[in-house]
Amino acid sequence: MRLDKFVSDAMGITRKDSKNLIKKGLVSVNGAIIKDSGANVNETDSLIVDGKRAEYKKFIYLMMNKPQGYISATDDKKQKTVLDLLPENFSRYDLFPAGRLDIDTEGFLLLTNDGQTAHNLLSPSKKVGKEYFARLEKPLTDKDKETIEQGVDIGGYITKPAKIEKHSDTECTITIVEGKFHQVKKMFEAVGNKVTYLKRVSFASLPLDPNLALGEYRYLTDEEVKTIGGTI
Ligand code: URA
Repeated sequence: MRLDKFVSDAMGITRKDSKNLIKKGLVSVNGAIIKDSGANVNETDSLIVDGKRAEYKKFIYLMMNKPQGYISATDDKKQKTVLDLLPENFSRYDLFPAGRLDIDTEGFLLLTNDGQTAHNLLSPSKKVGKEYFARLEKPLTDKDKETIEQGVDIGGYITKPAKIEKHSDTECTITIVEGKFHQVKKMFEAVGNKVTYLKRVSFASLPLDPNLALGEYRYLTDEEVKTIGGTI
């Protein structure tokens, strides 16, 4: 690939800024300063940019704490999408949300450009766990809890076994291993209740980072990328 592409992808900067750094002689490849932006380099080359090692990352994985009012899509004519919460320089990465949270649901949304890993995480056969905190309109009875845990009919589909932990009469966390449209809301509706607030607190064994305020995001650590089966 071109040197300016490597530098801009590795540093998260624009191609123009990357060309400027290269022109100024601030980029060395395998120990030699290269001033040609179009020079051919590969992923395993050792690059130092302005004194710092730059590692080429093929894929990006972001943990976002999605706020209400944003849809889990890459583009929409009418509504704000979760990509609108990222700075402009992310636009060239072709990021997309791995899975969907409703417009009024908050919490952990993974944004990536790694299609294969996203596909694996969302595939029903992989039974990837998703944990939600739910606030309910009415108290959740032990009987309704058990009914939901065993599987309920959400309109022609019987949900797979789920796990519910009650925190109070009207608050609980529910863990499911599938992701049907409006699934959690429909599961509580199936027993005559209603979800009034929903937040995803964990995805694929990764808890939502408590330091992320609504609308904030951070890169997954290498350890976290490994946990979800991504590529470091
Ligand atoms: N289940 C729902 O009902 N909504 C979501 O956003 C996620 C899971």
